[in-house]
Amino acid sequence: MEIPATMTNPDRNSHEISPDTFDIIGKILKNRTGFSLDSYKDKCIKRRISIRIRATHSPTAEDYSNLLLNNDAELDNLLKVLTIHVSHFFRNPTTFDKLRTEILPILFRQAQTEGRDSLTILSVGCASGEEPYSLALILREYFAEQLSQVQVRIHAIDVDAATLVNARNAVYTEDRLAEVSEELRTRYFDCRDNKFYLHQSVKEMVTFEQRDLYETGSFADFNLALCRNVLIYFERTVQEKILSGLAAALHSGGFLVLGKSETMVGESRKLFKTICPVERIYQVL
Ligand SMILES: C[S@@+](CC[C@H](N)C(=O)[O-])C[C@H]1O[C@@H](n2cnc3c(N)ncnc32)[C@H](O)[C@@H]1O
Repeated sequence: MEIPATMTNPDRNSHEISPDTFDIIGKILKNRTGFSLDSYKDKCIKRRISIRIRATHSPTAEDYSNLLLNNDAELDNLLKVLTIHVSHFFRNPTTFDKLRTEILPILFRQAQTEGRDSLTILSVGCASGEEPYSLALILREYFAEQLSQVQVRIHAIDVDAATLVNARNAVYTEDRLAEVSEELRTRYFDCRDNKFYLHQSVKEMVTFEQRDLYETGSFADFNLALCRNVLIYFERTVQEKILSGLAAALHSGGFLVLGKSETMVGESRKLFKTICPVERIYQVL
Protein backbone atom coordinates (compact mmCIF):
# COMPACT_ATOMS: atom_id res chain seq x y z
CA MET A 1 0.00 0.00 0.00
CA GLU A 2 3.09 2.26 -0.32
CA ILE A 3 2.04 5.62 -1.79
CA PRO A 4 3.52 6.19 -5.28
CA ALA A 5 5.72 9.26 -5.69
CA THR A 6 3.30 10.70 -8.28
CA MET A 7 0.70 11.05 -5.56
CA THR A 8 2.96 13.01 -3.27
CA ASN A 9 3.58 16.71 -3.49
CA PRO A 10 6.82 17.96 -1.94
CA ASP A 11 5.37 21.45 -1.51
CA ARG A 12 2.39 20.25 0.42
CA ASN A 13 2.24 21.53 3.91
CA SER A 14 2.28 18.65 6.39
CA HIS A 15 -1.08 19.70 7.88
CA GLU A 16 -2.81 19.00 4.62
CA ILE A 17 -4.03 15.46 4.16
CA SER A 18 -5.25 14.67 0.66
CA PRO A 19 -8.38 12.52 0.22
CA ASP A 20 -6.19 9.70 -1.17
CA THR A 21 -3.86 9.72 1.81
CA PHE A 22 -6.76 9.99 4.21
CA ASP A 23 -8.30 6.97 2.54
CA ILE A 24 -5.05 5.01 2.79
CA ILE A 25 -4.57 5.84 6.47
CA GLY A 26 -8.17 4.74 7.03
CA LYS A 27 -7.50 1.42 5.29
CA ILE A 28 -4.30 0.78 7.27
CA LEU A 29 -6.19 1.40 10.50
CA LYS A 30 -9.15 -0.77 9.48
CA ASN A 31 -6.99 -3.68 8.27
CA ARG A 32 -4.57 -3.71 11.16
CA THR A 33 -6.69 -2.65 14.14
CA GLY A 34 -10.31 -3.11 12.99
CA PHE A 35 -10.99 0.55 13.86
CA SER A 36 -13.09 2.29 11.20
CA LEU A 37 -12.90 6.02 10.52
CA ASP A 38 -15.98 5.93 8.30
CA SER A 39 -18.49 7.55 10.59
CA TYR A 40 -16.27 10.08 12.33
CA LYS A 41 -16.15 13.72 11.29
CA ASP A 42 -13.32 14.09 8.74
CA LYS A 43 -12.25 17.47 10.07
CA CYS A 44 -11.91 16.18 13.57
CA ILE A 45 -9.98 13.07 12.50
CA LYS A 46 -7.66 15.04 10.20
CA ARG A 47 -6.77 17.39 13.03
CA ARG A 48 -5.78 14.42 15.16
CA ILE A 49 -3.78 12.74 12.41
CA SER A 50 -1.92 16.04 11.95
CA ILE A 51 -0.91 15.88 15.61
CA ARG A 52 0.84 12.54 14.94
CA ILE A 53 2.36 13.81 11.65
CA ARG A 54 4.00 16.61 13.62
CA ALA A 55 4.96 14.38 16.55
CA THR A 56 6.75 11.90 14.26
CA HIS A 57 8.41 14.73 12.29
CA SER A 58 7.02 13.29 9.08
CA PRO A 59 7.66 15.80 6.27
CA THR A 60 4.27 15.09 4.65
CA ALA A 61 1.06 13.20 5.33
CA GLU A 62 2.14 10.65 2.71
CA ASP A 63 5.41 10.04 4.57
CA TYR A 64 3.37 9.51 7.68
CA SER A 65 1.11 6.94 6.05
CA ASN A 66 4.21 5.08 4.84
CA LEU A 67 5.57 5.15 8.38
CA LEU A 68 2.30 3.68 9.66
CA LEU A 69 2.66 0.74 7.31
CA ASN A 70 5.80 -0.47 9.06
CA ASN A 71 5.44 0.74 12.58
CA ASP A 72 3.01 -0.94 14.97
CA ALA A 73 3.92 1.35 17.85
CA GLU A 74 2.92 4.38 15.78
CA LEU A 75 -0.31 2.67 14.82
CA ASP A 76 -1.06 2.37 18.55
CA ASN A 77 -0.15 6.02 19.08
CA LEU A 78 -2.49 7.10 16.29
CA LEU A 79 -5.33 5.00 17.66
CA LYS A 80 -4.84 6.57 21.07
CA VAL A 81 -5.00 10.08 19.64
CA LEU A 82 -8.06 9.27 17.55
CA THR A 83 -10.06 7.87 20.43
CA ILE A 84 -9.12 10.47 23.04
CA HIS A 85 -9.73 9.23 26.52
CA VAL A 86 -9.78 12.50 28.40
CA SER A 87 -11.99 12.08 31.42
CA HIS A 88 -12.03 12.60 35.16
CA PHE A 89 -14.20 11.70 38.13
CA PHE A 90 -17.43 13.74 38.36
CA ARG A 91 -16.70 15.52 35.09
CA ASN A 92 -19.34 18.30 34.96
CA PRO A 93 -20.21 17.94 38.66
CA THR A 94 -23.63 19.64 38.29
CA THR A 95 -24.72 16.76 36.05
CA PHE A 96 -23.80 14.26 38.77
CA ASP A 97 -25.62 16.45 41.34
CA LYS A 98 -28.76 16.27 39.20
CA LEU A 99 -28.39 12.50 38.86
CA ARG A 100 -27.98 12.14 42.62
CA THR A 101 -30.79 14.46 43.70
CA GLU A 102 -33.39 13.82 41.00
CA ILE A 103 -32.79 11.06 38.48
CA LEU A 104 -31.54 8.19 40.69
CA PRO A 105 -34.34 8.73 43.26
CA ILE A 106 -36.89 8.55 40.39
CA LEU A 107 -35.29 5.33 39.12
CA PHE A 108 -35.37 3.70 42.56
CA ARG A 109 -39.04 4.74 42.93
CA GLN A 110 -39.81 3.35 39.46
CA ALA A 111 -38.19 0.04 40.41
CA GLN A 112 -40.26 -0.11 43.57
CA THR A 113 -43.53 0.71 41.79
CA GLU A 114 -42.84 -1.82 39.05
CA GLY A 115 -41.80 -4.46 41.61
CA ARG A 116 -38.30 -4.81 40.15
CA ASP A 117 -35.30 -5.65 42.31
CA SER A 118 -32.64 -4.42 39.90
CA LEU A 119 -31.58 -1.32 37.97
CA THR A 120 -29.10 -1.26 35.11
CA ILE A 121 -26.92 1.64 34.04
CA LEU A 122 -24.90 1.92 30.83
CA SER A 123 -21.83 4.10 30.40
CA VAL A 124 -20.92 4.47 26.72
CA GLY A 125 -17.38 5.58 25.86
CA CYS A 126 -16.33 5.09 29.47
CA ALA A 127 -12.60 5.84 28.90
CA SER A 128 -10.58 4.77 31.98
CA GLY A 129 -13.67 4.20 34.09
CA GLU A 130 -13.98 7.61 35.74
CA GLU A 131 -17.60 8.07 34.66
CA PRO A 132 -19.07 4.68 35.69
CA TYR A 133 -17.04 4.71 38.93
CA SER A 134 -18.35 8.20 39.76
CA LEU A 135 -21.86 6.77 39.58
CA ALA A 136 -20.81 3.81 41.70
CA LEU A 137 -19.38 6.20 44.32
CA ILE A 138 -22.64 8.19 44.42
CA LEU A 139 -24.64 5.00 44.81
CA ARG A 140 -22.52 3.67 47.66
CA GLU A 141 -22.36 6.98 49.43
CA TYR A 142 -25.96 8.21 49.12
CA PHE A 143 -28.13 5.20 48.30
CA ALA A 144 -26.93 2.53 50.73
CA GLU A 145 -30.47 1.84 51.96
CA GLN A 146 -31.90 1.50 48.44
CA LEU A 147 -28.99 -0.74 47.42
CA SER A 148 -30.00 -3.21 50.10
CA GLN A 149 -33.31 -3.69 48.25
CA VAL A 150 -32.45 -3.00 44.62
CA GLN A 151 -29.36 -4.38 42.96
CA VAL A 152 -27.66 -1.88 40.63
CA ARG A 153 -25.51 -3.09 37.77
CA ILE A 154 -23.30 -0.61 35.91
CA HIS A 155 -22.12 -1.79 32.52
CA ALA A 156 -19.43 0.30 30.82
CA ILE A 157 -18.26 0.00 27.23
CA ASP A 158 -15.48 1.51 25.17
CA VAL A 159 -14.07 0.70 21.75
CA ASP A 160 -10.47 0.92 22.96
CA ALA A 161 -9.02 -2.16 24.65
CA ALA A 162 -6.02 -0.36 26.20
CA THR A 163 -8.17 2.20 27.98
CA LEU A 164 -10.31 -0.61 29.38
CA VAL A 165 -7.22 -2.19 30.96
CA ASN A 166 -6.77 1.08 32.89
CA ALA A 167 -10.47 1.13 33.73
CA ARG A 168 -10.32 -2.36 35.23
CA ASN A 169 -7.16 -1.53 37.18
CA ALA A 170 -8.75 1.64 38.58
CA VAL A 171 -5.51 3.32 39.62
CA TYR A 172 -5.53 7.09 39.06
CA THR A 173 -3.27 10.10 39.26
CA GLU A 174 -4.44 13.00 41.43
CA ASP A 175 -5.54 15.21 38.51
CA ARG A 176 -8.32 12.70 37.72
CA LEU A 177 -9.67 13.16 41.25
CA ALA A 178 -9.80 16.96 41.28
CA GLU A 179 -13.62 16.93 41.65
CA VAL A 180 -13.67 14.17 44.29
CA SER A 181 -14.34 15.46 47.81
CA GLU A 182 -11.84 14.80 50.58
CA GLU A 183 -14.39 12.52 52.32
CA LEU A 184 -14.88 10.35 49.25
CA ARG A 185 -11.12 10.19 48.62
CA THR A 186 -10.51 9.00 52.15
CA ARG A 187 -13.37 6.53 52.17
CA TYR A 188 -12.97 4.92 48.77
CA PHE A 189 -9.35 5.29 47.63
CA ASP A 190 -6.00 4.15 49.01
CA CYS A 191 -3.19 6.56 48.24
CA ARG A 192 0.29 5.11 47.64
CA ASP A 193 3.20 6.72 45.78
CA ASN A 194 0.99 9.56 44.54
CA LYS A 195 -1.43 7.11 42.95
CA PHE A 196 -5.03 6.59 44.01
CA TYR A 197 -6.27 2.99 44.15
CA LEU A 198 -10.06 2.64 44.05
CA HIS A 199 -11.47 0.19 46.60
CA GLN A 200 -12.54 -3.23 45.42
CA SER A 201 -16.08 -2.69 46.78
CA VAL A 202 -16.58 0.13 44.24
CA LYS A 203 -14.71 -1.59 41.41
CA GLU A 204 -16.94 -4.61 41.59
CA MET A 205 -20.07 -2.54 40.94
CA VAL A 206 -18.93 -1.98 37.34
CA THR A 207 -18.40 -4.44 34.49
CA PHE A 208 -16.39 -3.36 31.45
CA GLU A 209 -16.66 -4.57 27.89
CA GLN A 210 -14.88 -3.70 24.68
CA ARG A 211 -17.70 -2.78 22.35
CA ASP A 212 -18.52 -0.23 19.69
CA LEU A 213 -21.26 2.23 20.49
CA TYR A 214 -23.00 1.39 17.21
CA GLU A 215 -23.98 -1.84 18.90
CA THR A 216 -25.91 -0.24 21.74
CA GLY A 217 -29.11 -0.97 19.76
CA SER A 218 -28.52 -4.63 20.56
CA PHE A 219 -28.67 -3.86 24.30
CA ALA A 220 -31.98 -3.82 26.12
CA ASP A 221 -33.57 -2.71 29.32
CA PHE A 222 -31.13 -0.16 30.68
CA ASN A 223 -32.71 2.33 33.08
CA LEU A 224 -30.07 4.99 32.66
CA ALA A 225 -27.50 5.52 29.90
CA LEU A 226 -24.64 8.02 29.89
CA CYS A 227 -23.17 8.81 26.48
CA ARG A 228 -21.07 11.87 27.15
CA ASN A 229 -18.39 13.48 25.02
CA VAL A 230 -18.42 10.73 22.42
CA LEU A 231 -21.22 11.69 20.00
CA ILE A 232 -19.46 14.92 19.24
CA TYR A 233 -16.87 13.09 17.09
CA PHE A 234 -19.45 11.58 14.76
CA GLU A 235 -21.24 12.84 11.66
CA ARG A 236 -24.79 14.02 12.27
CA THR A 237 -26.47 11.10 10.49
CA VAL A 238 -24.41 8.67 12.56
CA GLN A 239 -25.29 10.60 15.75
CA GLU A 240 -28.94 10.10 14.84
CA LYS A 241 -28.43 6.36 14.43
CA ILE A 242 -26.54 6.08 17.72
CA LEU A 243 -29.27 8.02 19.55
CA SER A 244 -32.01 5.76 18.18
CA GLY A 245 -29.90 2.75 19.24
CA LEU A 246 -29.74 4.21 22.73
CA ALA A 247 -33.52 4.80 22.74
CA ALA A 248 -33.95 1.12 21.92
CA ALA A 249 -31.51 0.12 24.66
CA LEU A 250 -33.51 1.95 27.34
CA HIS A 251 -36.32 0.51 29.43
CA SER A 252 -39.53 2.56 29.13
CA GLY A 253 -39.16 5.74 31.21
CA GLY A 254 -35.36 5.34 31.20
CA PHE A 255 -33.02 8.32 31.06
CA LEU A 256 -30.19 9.34 28.77
CA VAL A 257 -27.43 11.82 29.62
CA LEU A 258 -25.34 13.45 26.90
CA GLY A 259 -22.23 15.62 27.17
CA LYS A 260 -22.58 19.36 27.73
CA SER A 261 -21.85 20.18 24.08
CA GLU A 262 -24.04 17.42 22.65
CA THR A 263 -27.73 17.40 21.88
CA MET A 264 -30.57 15.49 20.21
CA VAL A 265 -30.48 15.66 16.42
CA GLY A 266 -33.04 14.98 13.67
CA GLU A 267 -35.54 12.19 14.19
CA SER A 268 -34.03 11.25 17.56
CA ARG A 269 -35.81 14.32 19.01
CA LYS A 270 -39.07 12.42 18.63
CA LEU A 271 -37.78 9.52 20.73
CA PHE A 272 -36.93 11.50 23.88
CA LYS A 273 -38.46 14.11 26.13
CA THR A 274 -36.06 16.78 27.45
CA ILE A 275 -35.86 16.62 31.24
CA CYS A 276 -33.04 19.07 31.87
CA PRO A 277 -31.66 21.00 28.88
CA VAL A 278 -28.72 22.43 30.84
CA GLU A 279 -27.47 19.04 32.01
CA ARG A 280 -28.52 17.35 28.73
CA ILE A 281 -30.77 14.84 30.46
CA TYR A 282 -33.51 13.17 28.39
CA GLN A 283 -36.17 10.55 29.04
CA VAL A 284 -37.13 7.95 26.45
CA LEU A 285 -40.76 8.22 25.29
C1 LIG B 1 -13.54 11.92 25.55
S1 LIG B 1 -13.77 10.29 26.16
C2 LIG B 1 -15.25 10.52 27.12
C3 LIG B 1 -15.16 9.78 28.44
C4 LIG B 1 -16.37 9.98 29.37
N1 LIG B 1 -17.59 9.56 28.75
C5 LIG B 1 -16.48 11.42 29.80
O1 LIG B 1 -17.37 12.14 29.36
O2 LIG B 1 -15.61 11.86 30.57
C6 LIG B 1 -14.39 9.47 24.70
C7 LIG B 1 -14.32 7.95 24.80
O3 LIG B 1 -15.15 7.41 23.75
C8 LIG B 1 -14.52 6.26 23.24
N2 LIG B 1 -15.02 5.98 21.89
C9 LIG B 1 -14.70 6.62 20.73
N3 LIG B 1 -15.33 6.03 19.69
C10 LIG B 1 -16.07 5.00 20.23
C11 LIG B 1 -16.92 4.02 19.67
N4 LIG B 1 -17.13 3.97 18.35
N5 LIG B 1 -17.51 3.12 20.50
C12 LIG B 1 -17.28 3.15 21.86
N6 LIG B 1 -16.46 4.06 22.44
C13 LIG B 1 -15.88 4.98 21.64
C14 LIG B 1 -13.04 6.61 23.26
O4 LIG B 1 -12.24 5.44 23.23
C15 LIG B 1 -12.92 7.38 24.57
O5 LIG B 1 -12.54 6.57 25.64
